[in-house]
Amino acid sequence: MKLGVITGSTRDGRKTPNQSKWIVKSANAIEGIEAEEIDLLDYPMPFFTEPVSPRYNPDRIIDPTAKKWLDKLEEFDAYIFVTPEYNHSVTGVLKNAIDYITWEVQRKPTAVVSHGAAGGARAATDLKEILSESRATVLNSGSRLAIASMSEKIDDQGNLSEEAKANPYGPQGSLESLLNELKWYNDALKPARAKIQAGL
Ligand SMILES: Cc1cc2nc3c(=O)[nH]c(=O)nc-3n(C[C@H](O)[C@H](O)[C@H](O)COP(=O)(O)O)c2cc1C
Repeated sequence: MKLGVITGSTRDGRKTPNQSKWIVKSANAIEGIEAEEIDLLDYPMPFFTEPVSPRYNPDRIIDPTAKKWLDKLEEFDAYIFVTPEYNHSVTGVLKNAIDYITWEVQRKPTAVVSHGAAGGARAATDLKEILSESRATVLNSGSRLAIASMSEKIDDQGNLSEEAKANPYGPQGSLESLLNELKWYNDALKPARAKIQAGL
């Protein structure tokens, strides 16, 4: 399973990449998962100004950086969107990037990992709703992972603190069960998507 891990903040001094690095490392340690970070900082697309909603615009003219972001998204079988909470919701940069999506994530298993003072739970709830409108197959709330005080638990190399690792109900176990759930859905959905593509 090719897993795209989207880093949903771009501000100077941001912490979200720490969480993404931890996810990528943990995912790559599981047989059958190949994970890669997709950092929105590498796709500085403008604010969305297209005249028609992209899913309903056959004559779409798209900004070249936004096109690169969508081409990158298309490469993956499954996704984890990583978001902090800004003003009780997702970051503006992530919402803007999602507004460009057409069918790239359709019927692909997708999970949300968040952080913030209350684990980013409000942002995660909004993000699941937003991604379901993008036609992603969003995992149920049992597979949501929200981490409070994330920057105290994960360093800038993506290593989880020894204390957090030692907690049997801590983030590592939750992440691993989320990754296994994504894989389960991918094993079920990938052949079904291939059938549709083949017109069967
Ligand atoms: C503009 C802004 C708004 C924020 N709003 C919230 C919030 O509503 N709830 C919360 O728990 N944390 C909030 N925070 C704290 C962030 O979740 C925390 O700083 C986190 O590290 C931000 O992710 P980043 O470092 O990748 O930008 C806010 C931070 C910023 C910069």
